[in-house]
Amino acid sequence: MAQNFHSNFQLSSDMSTAINRTAKPSSEFYSIFSEEEVLGIIHALEVRREIPLKYSYKGRGAKIWDDFYRKYVIPTWYRTSNVEIDLLKENFNYLNDNIQGGKKVNIVDVGAGNSYPVKNFIQRLNKLGKVNKYIALDISEELLNLSKNNFTKWFPLVEFISSTIDIENSCVPRKLFQNKASLEIDDTAKIFFHLGVTIGNHQNREKVLKNFRDSMGKNDFLVFTNETGINSKWDGNVRGGCKYHVEEIYGWVKSKIGIKSEDCELVRKYDLKTDSIVANMKLHHSYTLNFSRMGIDKKIEISEGEEITIWRHHKYEIPKLLQELECSGLQLIHYNINKYKSHIMVICKVASS
Ligand SMILES: C[S@@+](CC[C@H](N)C(=O)[O-])C[C@H]1O[C@@H](n2cnc3c(N)ncnc32)[C@H](O)[C@@H]1O
Repeated sequence: MAQNFHSNFQLSSDMSTAINRTAKPSSEFYSIFSEEEVLGIIHALEVRREIPLKYSYKGRGAKIWDDFYRKYVIPTWYRTSNVEIDLLKENFNYLNDNIQGGKKVNIVDVGAGNSYPVKNFIQRLNKLGKVNKYIALDISEELLNLSKNNFTKWFPLVEFISSTIDIENSCVPRKLFQNKASLEIDDTAKIFFHLGVTIGNHQNREKVLKNFRDSMGKNDFLVFTNETGINSKWDGNVRGGCKYHVEEIYGWVKSKIGIKSEDCELVRKYDLKTDSIVANMKLHHSYTLNFSRMGIDKKIEISEGEEITIWRHHKYEIPKLLQELECSGLQLIHYNINKYKSHIMVICKVASS
């Protein structure tokens, strides 16, 4: 009897480790993402075990970003400076002096988020009468709504246009620069912003830079930021977005994909293959991720111990940055590094040859 009990117990415990758990993405998941985006997530999961961070700004992810920004990034009485706003301030004269013929510009903010980082810059440029219009572009419709609320409150007289775009997959559509009345393309020079160290989050940075290049005219500037230098190496300390933003995304991704909290853990580390700091969801049990809506029927098997990347950040060293710009047909014309030597602001033009 005792022996039987023992063997039954062993059988059931063996079975429990062998039983594959199934995760079914929630209905919220299918309401947030288009079919193309669901297929993009499936592809990234199959090919490189990743749920690209860009998708985590959609739906409730927009509020997660805005809350993180307001709590940890926005200047307040106890945190008086913001690296990116300071870098933009330092570069104001350079950009203003180099706007062609002292004319007006269109500001094209790609990955605009809540638009907060460009507020002071636009305020100064607008006082000089040089802002033609502000175009907010983002993968997240919800963040564009936030951007619109903020921007139109700050600058009720500046024309605001917005559109969703995935800059990893496409250029900025020319129709956004069409004059409403004449339907002609407005050839006002443009300053493209890509702020918030977002360039370091993309899986395919070169593709993004090429898409910028193909969206630009010869009088346009691309201004972007990234972390650099002393911040490039992983010291094991989680801080900033890698701590607070990631914690929130992790909770949200788990629930929308349908993986139980007790079945996974959050791991942050340096990943040599992508030369990036990554945040991964490590599975303690084998899982089948079952995507079965929108005419999609796809099962992805993830084994116990495997990790799914939900956040990544590549930091630039200058030689690598120059190489990526050159490969993308862009030319570095100016850059600044902040006083802590942690962040870089890069200004480029379309390469001349
Ligand atoms: C790190 S936040 C930066 C937001 C803002 N620029 C700032 O500096 O606070 C990244 C922003 O880029 C957007 N984004 C991320 N990947 C994108 C992509 N592939 N195409 C368009 N927007 C993207 C996100 O939705 C989010 O608003």
